[in-house]
Amino acid sequence: MNATNTATTSTAPKGKVVLAYSGGLDTSALIPYLENQGYEVVTAIASLGQPGSSDIDAIAEKATSLGATASYAIDMREEFCDVACVDAIAANGMYENKYPLLSALSRPIICKHLVEVAHKEGAVAIAHGCTGKGNDQVRFELECKALDPELDILGPVRTWELTTRNSEIEYCAAHGIEIEVTKKSPYSIDENVWGRAIECGILENPWNEPPADAWVMTVDATEAPDEPTDVVISFEAGKPVAVDGTKMSMLALITKLNKLAGGNGYGRIDMIEDRLVGLKSRECYEQPAALTLIKAHKALESLCLPGDVLASKLKLEHDWAKQVYSGLWYSPLKDACDAFFASTQATVTGDVRIRLYKGSATVTGIKSEHSMYDFGLATYDEGDTFDRSAAKGFMDLFGLPNKVWAQRKIEAAADMPAAPEDKPEVVYATEETAVEQDVLV
Ligand code: ARG
Repeated sequence: MNATNTATTSTAPKGKVVLAYSGGLDTSALIPYLENQGYEVVTAIASLGQPGSSDIDAIAEKATSLGATASYAIDMREEFCDVACVDAIAANGMYENKYPLLSALSRPIICKHLVEVAHKEGAVAIAHGCTGKGNDQVRFELECKALDPELDILGPVRTWELTTRNSEIEYCAAHGIEIEVTKKSPYSIDENVWGRAIECGILENPWNEPPADAWVMTVDATEAPDEPTDVVISFEAGKPVAVDGTKMSMLALITKLNKLAGGNGYGRIDMIEDRLVGLKSRECYEQPAALTLIKAHKALESLCLPGDVLASKLKLEHDWAKQVYSGLWYSPLKDACDAFFASTQATVTGDVRIRLYKGSATVTGIKSEHSMYDFGLATYDEGDTFDRSAAKGFMDLFGLPNKVWAQRKIEAAADMPAAPEDKPEVVYATEETAVEQDVLV
């Protein structure tokens, strides 16, 4: 592609745009591209614990050198852990019952900061580097709009002419910017302290096993230590607060569990996922701490919450995960689900022991001062306090509707028309074949 052909002629000033900047090629090329559209570009880079952006100040400086008139480097790690991850644990948040939502959880925090920067800078728009096939474009659009419906949200990568890496590099050069070209990863990666998403390349064929180089946070189960690692996670009102008795911040706790669980080969997910835009995609994730914490939290809830609360919560957990996946973090339904979860967590306090061993995490013990488990009621040994004599009356009444229904079916069978010859006959009980019924009506 001839780089000069890609330059548009529009120079009418349009005001400031805040660009969600990653330091990668796409968002770097977006700086001259948006300038060329008439925008003054301000960039914002987030640290969410992704290893590639450990030096966000250096990435912010790079943005300035590429033409951004202001460049923000924002450390969002604590906020991400204290707000998004804590909520996700209370919600046992897993999309399609498998994916603990790492990218989906980060976008609401990023969008909140982008909108804040936009207000501070008096910007008219927010721009992102998402493609037109993914979920992240939806999240940027919906979450920024939920916080300020007046802002324009621009996703130029969806439609621009720069469809290859070379054309992006040429475009930058044509606008006087030399981009340092790094080796292209064979995968598309999104990562933060809650985990790592691995997409594209060889993984696009679901029959291909993920190659060893796809995994970074987890060792292969076959190479994990021969000795198991036991870890005790303490929760207070649904929130993890300590590991092996040592209190720590959420960021420190998640970081520690990523190492412990990942080092024992636990935390890999390989799934077919249903994206918002209607297509199925093959997704691999590494989320050692997220999976461990949700497993431990579920175990503690099972001890501390009544069965009907657990059953209702499970349904809402599914709704919550769908909302968060769909870019609806800032929405009435998600808020209502959070309020329900919050009302359930007051007694979810206690310890869970997990054994990490060669790719598995197994709950080996749970205890809580709010435990609903009553030894006297449960035991089949000495000390039984359960009133067995109440069981018969319970069954008589609990089973009554079904008993009446069975009786009516028997009575009606006599009046049933004969089955057509080409259909197998439906065999109903008759008054002769049925055991005599003693229906209490
Ligand atoms: N499929 C996941 C999600 O939608 C992961 C997305 C990863 N994003 C990325 N830009 N590679 O949440």
